[in-house]
Amino acid sequence: MCGIIGYIGKRNAVPVLLYGLQRLEYRGYDSAGIAVVDNENGKILIEKQVGKIKDLQEHLWGRNINGHLGLGHTRWATHGSPTVENAHPHISQGGKFAIVHNGIIENYMELKKYLQEKGYKFKSETDTEVIAHLLEDEYNGNLLDTALKVAKKLEGAYAVGIISTEEPDKIIAIKKGSPLIIGLGKEENFIASDIPAVLEYTKDFIVLEDGEVALITEDNVEVYNLEGQKVQKKPLHVTWDVSVAEKGGYKHFMQKEIHEQPRTIGDTLAGFSSSKNEELFDMLKDINRLYIIACGTSFHAGLVGKFWIEKFARIPVEVDYASEYRYRDRIIDEKTAVLGISQSGETADTRFALLDAKKEGAKTIGLVNVVGSSLSRESDYVLYTYCGPEIGVAATKTFTAQLVTLLLFALEAGLKRETISKEEYDKIHEALLHIPSKVEEILKKDDEIKDIAYKYMNATDFLFLGRNINYPIALEGALKLKEISYIHAEGYPAGEMKHGPIALIDEKLPVVSVIPKDRFYEKMFSNVQEVKARKGKVISVATQDDEKIKELSEDVIYIPQTEDILYPILTVIPLQMLSYHIATLLGKDVDQPRNLAKTVTVE
Ligand code: M6R
Repeated sequence: MCGIIGYIGKRNAVPVLLYGLQRLEYRGYDSAGIAVVDNENGKILIEKQVGKIKDLQEHLWGRNINGHLGLGHTRWATHGSPTVENAHPHISQGGKFAIVHNGIIENYMELKKYLQEKGYKFKSETDTEVIAHLLEDEYNGNLLDTALKVAKKLEGAYAVGIISTEEPDKIIAIKKGSPLIIGLGKEENFIASDIPAVLEYTKDFIVLEDGEVALITEDNVEVYNLEGQKVQKKPLHVTWDVSVAEKGGYKHFMQKEIHEQPRTIGDTLAGFSSSKNEELFDMLKDINRLYIIACGTSFHAGLVGKFWIEKFARIPVEVDYASEYRYRDRIIDEKTAVLGISQSGETADTRFALLDAKKEGAKTIGLVNVVGSSLSRESDYVLYTYCGPEIGVAATKTFTAQLVTLLLFALEAGLKRETISKEEYDKIHEALLHIPSKVEEILKKDDEIKDIAYKYMNATDFLFLGRNINYPIALEGALKLKEISYIHAEGYPAGEMKHGPIALIDEKLPVVSVIPKDRFYEKMFSNVQEVKARKGKVISVATQDDEKIKELSEDVIYIPQTEDILYPILTVIPLQMLSYHIATLLGKDVDQPRNLAKTVTVE
């Protein structure tokens, strides 16, 4: 939901900003821009372009812009359509202050009216431009002081970067609600929405908390609260290699991330065991209700998690879209826990729903991938997936890692609550250790799945069916296909078909059936027969050696055998691959699908 980058130091800021923007492009890609304080005349120079970062790069090609201080922005439009005028950075009327912003200024109408009455002319339709004019209006010879005053006038969620010709040796960064980190270099410093944007230059970071304002020069960083009091911050060191943010020989990040899953599942298994949070599992002993809240793919992981947690830990679980949970009359007491699942840890719906529940007395747990993200800091307890950055907008490797973590969570809670035996725990744990090699086997079917994708790529609708613990996988398969190929798809519990949706079936409808050899096999088989009887084209994801399913299916993608309850971690892999291939065969931009952003920091 918009990406911010800023640089101060000895290098020319322009290539640093463009490189950072490329790394942040997954956050928004409808327009982009940079602002630098020109080394020659000390003025702020702004260049913006509608489209992707490559369009901005082409626009700047051959231009000799030099500056040691600058800001960059890649936009996902909220207020105002994607135009050059609405693209960031925005500049104040007198040209002395340039700003970039990620988030929404909720009271911008009121501020705009106030500024217009004072004679400020607005060039864009954005909520952001008010910040630039407010800075000019309030400037008192001290940029930090002025930024603090302006921040107090802003309502909503925002991360803001500010530079000024008046004090061209500083960047000011303000964070409230949207993510912002400071990269610490040698005689240079950076601001960015996300760590990979500056991983090329540093592995040391300060993660800003809500309500913090940083004063950044090339050799110093000071952090203040909104009252202007200094805050001591402990830098974070990451060990990631810069290659985590590169495609490493794959055509797309999504493809790379699908193929990383044997490693990321293994790392998540190892990471969970080595950082087991005893306090969390002690707390779970006394819990009698768990709400899981999440959005999109993370929500589907939560739906699978419910089966495991109820089975092994015997805690009643409700799973809700975070955007719905926030506004319902939930029941919370001291025995209620709320688990927020979010890859980014920045999704506004999930964060704010969790914070509301926390205020009402719930114990809160965050399951996140991004270390240091807002949700990880706002939850009472944190669980991590160990995937490294996920750049493709479609979540893949983080989904399977969320599943693994939820299963381990359920097993550990079960042991503590004495609702499973050690033998059962060990049996499932042992089976889990074999999952990475089984995923590896499925990934070898890439060409086969591509051929199937080719057969069905021109369908206008798809149906995905599953039962019980594989029903959320049907939902996830449909979401993957929709978001990257723009083909209409729906996921359904197979037993529910006869209550209405079966009317949709005809010879043109591909129906993907998730039918592993588990205890629901026969029931699922009957449901697939019903589809076949109505001439639907069945593509089955089935367990190897299942010859019977061939009778009903046009195509079968076989997966290795595992324990019944582990199948979701395997059945989802062919669905990710099928969507990927259909979308790329159709020529779609799978890493940056239209209208989407990786991290949704607005409600
Ligand atoms: O970062 P989060 O896990 O909170 O993101 C939630 C959803 O926005 C996300 O899963 C989205 O649905 C993905 N594009 C799915 O592939």
